[in-house]
Amino acid sequence: MTANEDWGAMASERLSAIAKASEPGPGVTRLPFGPEHEAALDLISEWMRRAGCSVSLDSAGTLIGRREGPPGAPTLLIGSHQDSVREGGAFDGIMGVALGCLALEALGAQELPFAVEVLAFADEEGVRFPTALIGPRALAGTLDPKVFEMTDRAGERLGEALRAFGGDPEKATMLARNPDEIAGYLELHIEQGPVLEAADAPLGVVTAISGIERHRVTVTGEAGHAGTVPMEMRHDALLSASDLVRGVHDMARDHGIRATVGQLTVSPNVVNAIPARVDLTIEIRAAEDAARDAVGAALGELCAGIAVETLTEIEIEKTYSQPAQACDPDLRARLAAAVEAATGAPAIELPSGATHDASAMADLCPIAMLFVRCKGGVSHNPAEEANGADMGAAVSALAEFLRRYVP
Ligand code: GLV
Ligand code: MN
Ligand code: MN
Repeated sequence: MTANEDWGAMASERLSAIAKASEPGPGVTRLPFGPEHEAALDLISEWMRRAGCSVSLDSAGTLIGRREGPPGAPTLLIGSHQDSVREGGAFDGIMGVALGCLALEALGAQELPFAVEVLAFADEEGVRFPTALIGPRALAGTLDPKVFEMTDRAGERLGEALRAFGGDPEKATMLARNPDEIAGYLELHIEQGPVLEAADAPLGVVTAISGIERHRVTVTGEAGHAGTVPMEMRHDALLSASDLVRGVHDMARDHGIRATVGQLTVSPNVVNAIPARVDLTIEIRAAEDAARDAVGAALGELCAGIAVETLTEIEIEKTYSQPAQACDPDLRARLAAAVEAATGAPAIELPSGATHDASAMADLCPIAMLFVRCKGGVSHNPAEEANGADMGAAVSALAEFLRRYVP
């Protein structure tokens, strides 16, 4: 076995083990601040200790493994997220934490002219609460304390969930790092798309990360008997919502960007009553903030038109936004050189359509990302997979980056 295959086999083993820290059901469901998160942190702590790091949990729920450097030397941050979507895969997010730890383990006792921290952020997906990136925003000093009032489906407040987990909402807003002490932030992540596979390349260096915004929409109609109320007299919330789903789709397509209605709750949700209410989410993504802003700004008018047409009321609230971010040219070039040294082939460069913790870390320091090839381009799906050899190559590339890097 080559060294790459050894590290890759360890990565596969660790990711299979931590995939069990999941709610029951297909794939991985690991939301922030619950028992599955706690079980995952037990394993990640062990990975960090094996990498020679001291381990601590910060007030925003980020697990931090720190490898000391010379006194006064800056710190290089390596991170990603522990959480998954519902019924997601075993690689999105957590793979970057695993590979970061393995790269430090591969370095062994070799001294570096800087400290390194591996960060396992609590919540990047924004699936449990209608916000995300609490951990990186806390470090960047951009965390809005209003998010702690947001509630999950069960009505639990984010601030309470964080506190019960060992965090502290007040202290979380005081975690901002001094940019002068931070050299940069690196994130390794499964590509979640088909580009590297099509190019027959195990690894790719990210050029920029798309921006994203999310909206919570409430459509209110009126319940009524399915057999007695004439069609033209109905206030059907689901009819209104379905016009909105189509309208959002068409608007995004016309602007050349992406938008998704991914969550929809109908009530009373019975076979013989006109739907009285629909709660839904709209998510918009684009590499260009101006294009995303244009579609986001047009939502109000779209909703107003549909409300009149369908005799319903539509309320819309923006719950989250994160602008597009460019990756740092210097870190990108160094990462590309390390990839070439580790794989023997020039690095492919590609943009990221998904968002990442790195988007928020860009407010603190220069960022760069390394993508690992994704089988069939499938992600946010139990079938998500990166192969061991590719993950091994990523560990070698990151270790090589660390050996060469001088802040
Ligand atoms: C996060 O992973 C996202 O892009 O949805
Ligand atoms: Mn991710
Ligand atoms: Mn994801």
